[in-house]
Amino acid sequence: MPRAHPLVPSAEVEAFFDTADARRTGMADPVYVPEYDAALTVLVNAFWPYVPAEARILDVGAGAGYLSRRVLDCLPQAQVTLLDFSANMLSAADQVLSPYPGQYETLRADYNHADLPAGAFDAVVSSFAIHYTRGDGAYRSLYRRLHRALVPGGVFACCDMVAGATDEWSQLGEQGWRAHLEEVLAPDAVEHTLETHYAQDTPLSVQGHFTCLRQAGFGVVDLLWKRDIFAVYVARK
Ligand SMILES: C[S@@+](CC[C@H](N)C(=O)[O-])C[C@H]1O[C@@H](n2cnc3c(N)ncnc32)[C@H](O)[C@@H]1O
Repeated sequence: MPRAHPLVPSAEVEAFFDTADARRTGMADPVYVPEYDAALTVLVNAFWPYVPAEARILDVGAGAGYLSRRVLDCLPQAQVTLLDFSANMLSAADQVLSPYPGQYETLRADYNHADLPAGAFDAVVSSFAIHYTRGDGAYRSLYRRLHRALVPGGVFACCDMVAGATDEWSQLGEQGWRAHLEEVLAPDAVEHTLETHYAQDTPLSVQGHFTCLRQAGFGVVDLLWKRDIFAVYVARK
C-alpha cells in the first residue's frame, strides 16, 4: 500500500536533530511514549545481569545519553560508547552523564555506515533511534554490522517504534498512540507529533526486525514488550 504521507530525505532528519533542543528531543521528557519507564526497564533488564561488571556497551543513536545513563545506573563500571550522527545531540551527554565521568565516550557517525570494530561490545542498545532506517536492506546491513561488533553470546536490546504486521494493525497501533497523545499533549502538539512521525519515521514490523536480525546472523530473537506502536525486542549472537 503506498504511503499516505510524504517522507523527508534522511538528510532532513539529520538537520532536524542538529537544530533540536538536544536534552528535550533526546527523551528528557518522553511523555509521548506510553509506559516509557517500564519499557526502558525491560530493555536494560534484558542484558545487564548477564554481562561483566566492566562491560563494553554500544548505544546506537544515543542522542543526549538518556538510555546510556540507565545502563550506567545498573552497571556503573561499564564503558559506554554513544554513537550518533548529531554533534548537537551528543553535546548534551556531558550533562546527562555527569555522575559517570570517564565511563563513556562519544562517537560521531551515521549508524548506517559506521565502521564498528569486530567483537568490541558485550551488548548493543538503542532507544527511539533506528526507526529512521530506510528499507529492509538498510536494516539488515545495520544489524549485520551490530552482530559483527558483538562478542559471541552478546545481546542487542532495542526499544523503538514498530509497524504492525498488516496495514490494519499498523492503523490500530497508531489509533492507540493517538489516544495516548491526546491524554498528555495539547491538540496542536498531537497533530505536530503525528506529522513529524509520518514525515520522518520508517519503522519495520516486529516480524520484519526478526527476519532481518536472523539474516544478519543473530541466533535467538524475542519480543519483550509492546504497546501501540512501541516495542522492546532483543536478539542474541
Ligand atoms: C529521538 S532521539 C533518541 C535519543 C536517545 N536514544 C534517547 O532515547 O534518549 C534519536 C537519535 O537518533 C539519532 N540518529 C538518527 N538517525 C541517525 C543515524 N543515521 N546515525 C546516527 N544517529 C542517528 C539522532 O541524531 C538522535 O540523537
